[in-house]
Parts: sequence; structure tokens; C-alpha cells
Amino acid sequence: MERLQKVIANSGYCSRRNAENLILDKKVMVNGKVISELGCKVSPTDVITVEGKIINQQKKEYVLLYKPRGVVTTTKDEHNRKTVLDLIETNIRLYPVGRLDYDTSGLLILTNDGELANLLMHPRNKIDKVYVSKVEGLVTKDQILKLRKGLTIDGFKTALAGARIIKYDKKTDTSIVELTIHEGKNHQVKKMLSAIGHEVIKLKREKVSFLTLKGLKSGEYRYLNIKEVKKLYNEAKNKDSI
Ligand code: URA
Repeated sequence: MERLQKVIANSGYCSRRNAENLILDKKVMVNGKVISELGCKVSPTDVITVEGKIINQQKKEYVLLYKPRGVVTTTKDEHNRKTVLDLIETNIRLYPVGRLDYDTSGLLILTNDGELANLLMHPRNKIDKVYVSKVEGLVTKDQILKLRKGLTIDGFKTALAGARIIKYDKKTDTSIVELTIHEGKNHQVKKMLSAIGHEVIKLKREKVSFLTLKGLKSGEYRYLNIKEVKKLYNEAKNKDSI
């Protein structure tokens, strides 16, 4: 048995707080009966409706995928390209948490837990994502400082970020740069590096919060354990209250 507001939030319908308000506003029914107080607990066989819509109470799955390059992050591709879902064997409908570009590799979480997905994606919750990028040209210390302080891309000022040079290769005129950001604007890393004058040749996401790709090869995945799921919730919520 779980609290009604938690089950509604888990389904991805809304946040737990909004679910509480919907209950108090008498917009939630369990097995056809209006619930108007917060103490109600439900089991997986109960039929829950919110504002007239049935809530799906499915078992929650959490996958950590090492996305290869050349795979799209959408659930369906109009050009029939391979999607991240083609790499995962499950009967449950999973959704990617955020997006990695077609030519970006690295760590991608997929889940049917809408509440966690929303918490991880909301920039307010400051979930760090670490990217390692090979770029054209030799990156300078001044440029690294600009990445750290924030710069304007598409009229949007990026937040404080972590940035460091991992190595240079003078022969090929390339650099390897590590960037840690908690926002998730479209092509953000490529645009930030382009804004300091360096085009991205290769991009890989190495970390999301405390999760890494350790033990996985490109194209492989594993399920998160309950401890990791709880820790992700804590990471997102603790940041939320700061
Ligand atoms: N930033 C990018 O530019 N591309 C990605 O895939 C992820 C972050």
C-alpha cells in the first residue's frame, strides 16, 4: 500500500504537492469514490482517476544505458533510425530522462517513474551532468574561466559551471575538455564550447549526479538498485530546498 499522492506523482501526472492539492480539491477518485483527505493509501489493484483520467500504476523500472553514438534519444524516429529503446529489452514503456544528441554517447537514464524524471530534469534541482568533449583547437585558461562564469547562448545566460582542460594535442590541434553543468538546454555543451570558439568533434556524458558508466560498454545497460533510486531522489530534493 502506498500513499495516494505518491502514486499519482509516480505516474508522472504532476508533483506530489500538486497531487495533494488535487485531492483536497476533490478531483481524485479511488474505485469511483471521491477522496478529499490526505491519509488515503492505495494498492496496485485500485483504480485511481484524477480530473477524470485514469492513472497508470505500473511497476517502476530504472535503466542506466551507455548510449552509443548513432542512436536517437526519442522513443520513435521519423527516419526509422535506431532509438535508445531498441537497445533495451523490456515490456514496460520507458522514457529517456533528458536527451543526448544522435552523435553524443554516454550515460542516459530511462524510466517510467515520471516524478523522478521531472525532478532530475528540472534545472532548479541542480543535478550535475559531467561531459567530456574533444574540441578543435587549443583551449586557453581564459576560455575555461568564461565557461565557468557563464556565457550567453541563444540569448540565455548559462549558470556557473565546472570546466577544466584534461589534455591538449598540439599535433592534431585538439583539446579534451571536461564540463559539469546542471542545465539541459538543447545542444548546450556544443553551444557553450562553440561560444568560446571551439567546435566539438566528439562528446560523451560520463556522469549524471553520482552515477557513472563503470562496468558498462557502449550499448550496454543495467538496472538501478533501490539504494541508487533513493539517493537520486535525495540528491534532487535536497538541492530543491537550498
Ligand atoms: N549538450 C550537447 O550539446 N549535446 C548533448 O547531447 C548533450 C549536451
